[in-house]
Amino acid sequence: MRSEERTFVAIKPDGVQRGLIGEVLKRFELKGYKVTALKMLTVSDQQARAHYAEHEGKPFYPRLIRYIQSGPIVAMVVEGYNAVAGVRHLMGSTDPDKAEVGTIRADFAQVMEYNVVHGSDSVESAEREIKIYFGEDEIFAERKCMSELVTEYLDAD
Ligand code: RTP
Ligand code: MG
Repeated sequence: MRSEERTFVAIKPDGVQRGLIGEVLKRFELKGYKVTALKMLTVSDQQARAHYAEHEGKPFYPRLIRYIQSGPIVAMVVEGYNAVAGVRHLMGSTDPDKAEVGTIRADFAQVMEYNVVHGSDSVESAEREIKIYFGEDEIFAERKCMSELVTEYLDAD
């Protein structure tokens, strides 16, 4: 059963440095997902450790913590049907060499240590990760269609 989900997505420091913010955002928007929260920030030590707690102790963990803090990221909440799996499908496999052509990682990355984007791997991870980066008051899920906007505008006169 498909359901409306929200997921946490980050354009990692390499993606920001390389000017890929617009390209990555465009892919999620063209799919029809709603970007309901968005900010650029430098990840604090506390946020980095909370975000990647599941990887603590792995050989790549220290480099991962350094990487995610090496420059600003663009953090966002993305909503849509089956959005957790759907976003990861658009991102492609962790290793860009194994990712399908057409995915973000296949198209824009060469090595998994600099793979441009992060996306939550489950609904539970998404809720945990969203809390690390956003307050609920920073998430804007409501959208109005054009006729509602025009009616509101005309009624205001
Ligand atoms: P992400 O969390 O960033 O969306 O990526 P993922 O689920 O596809 O991969 P995950 O296993 O959660 O790994 C998190 C990030 O750590 C880096 N990594 N390096 N050198 C390595 O063996 C290695 N393995 C993972 C990648 O940047 C990966 O995205
Ligand atoms: Mg992961």
